[in-house]
Amino acid sequence: MIPFSPPYINENVIKEVVDSLKSGWITTGPKVKELEYEIAQFVGLPNVLCVNSWTSGAIMMLRWLGLEKGDEVIIPSYTYCATALAVIHAGGTPIMVDVNDDFNIDVKSIEKAITSKTKAVLSVDFAGFPCDYSEIQELVASEKIIKLFKPTSQIQKKLGRILFISDAAHSLGANYKNKGIGHSCDISIFSLHAVKNITTAEGGAIVINMPKPFDNENLYGNLRSMTLNCQTKDAFSKSQGGNWKYDITGLGMKINMADINAAIGLAQIKEYPTLLERRKSIFKKYSSEFKKFNWSIEPPTSTNEKESSYHLYPLRIKNINEEQRDEIISLISAQQIAVNVHFIPLPLLTYFKDLGYSIKEHPKAYNNYKAEISLPIYPQLTDESVDLVIKTTIDCCEQVLNTVSKTV
Ligand SMILES: Cc1ncc(COP(=O)(O)O)c(C=O)c1O
Repeated sequence: MIPFSPPYINENVIKEVVDSLKSGWITTGPKVKELEYEIAQFVGLPNVLCVNSWTSGAIMMLRWLGLEKGDEVIIPSYTYCATALAVIHAGGTPIMVDVNDDFNIDVKSIEKAITSKTKAVLSVDFAGFPCDYSEIQELVASEKIIKLFKPTSQIQKKLGRILFISDAAHSLGANYKNKGIGHSCDISIFSLHAVKNITTAEGGAIVINMPKPFDNENLYGNLRSMTLNCQTKDAFSKSQGGNWKYDITGLGMKINMADINAAIGLAQIKEYPTLLERRKSIFKKYSSEFKKFNWSIEPPTSTNEKESSYHLYPLRIKNINEEQRDEIISLISAQQIAVNVHFIPLPLLTYFKDLGYSIKEHPKAYNNYKAEISLPIYPQLTDESVDLVIKTTIDCCEQVLNTVSKTV
């Protein structure tokens, strides 16, 4: 069986976790600090805050922004449910817009969707391929859009425009204009969930890059306290004898990352350049083989400005419908290879359908979805397994496509 996305666990990971267990301190402490430092080094920005998931981090950041009922946050319809649910949990309304052929949010559609109630744009780097950061940045900072902006919280007034926040759940390790993710927007959040390139089993990391007059170091401190119920001292400081007194200064959340989780990611991120290289070589190998077939649409990988983190390999098959795609998946799965679909567009899911979102307004998202199959891609995948995935995928696609052409 070739699994879809097993975590990368080697002796170094085990050693780091055992070190945490033996240290006598397993919740938020030195390992979390070290992981924050390593992620900061990786992206090239100093203020990184670890939390217990992407989802909780996004809810906290949108609460910090001060969303009120009726406030709108623009998101792509082609994403995981958490992107929209975070907005709803923070008290706002997700405004879904369609995507491009590269799977990422369409900037012209963002512009059309902006109203005086828009408080944030929450883009997604699908599969680890960066969205059009500069275009979105220019849009939210343009005179016309700033004129429309109606701030209703202290933070919104201080910012003076729509917040640009990136759902970078997939894109730790990607590059945009030769820099890591986080430089071309205000806030970026990585997911460190078990299937991600770097994992802490469950976890997230917030990159803070607010413009002046925000003080990002100070903001890191405030947000860190917000992840710990707005308690003035964390448990680690309180454990250092005689330091027991604390205060609660606001309505926080309890979403801090534990050291025992951070240990996993800490060991992995130290090896990330090598792990990323292996992902890239698998990605390139897949693309070089699939491009020989006229039914294949290989996923975007790099342009002059962008380079993927190679988190997923979302292959698309030309001119097939959902049923045929599902049939190909059944055939591949029968050969003991686990594949997946990223993503079911949000308007197709019951909860969002019941809220009134309609797939008819998202034709590109639907077209991407109906033709998409995500293939296994991770550093432990051997060359033999990669060859087997390629051969099996080609055989299964041809089998279904030949049946179609014979019945037409
Ligand atoms: C695009 C996207 N956003 C957000 C999330 C949520 O991440 P987490 O599970 O860390 O909350 C995921 C998780 O897979 C995702 O794919």
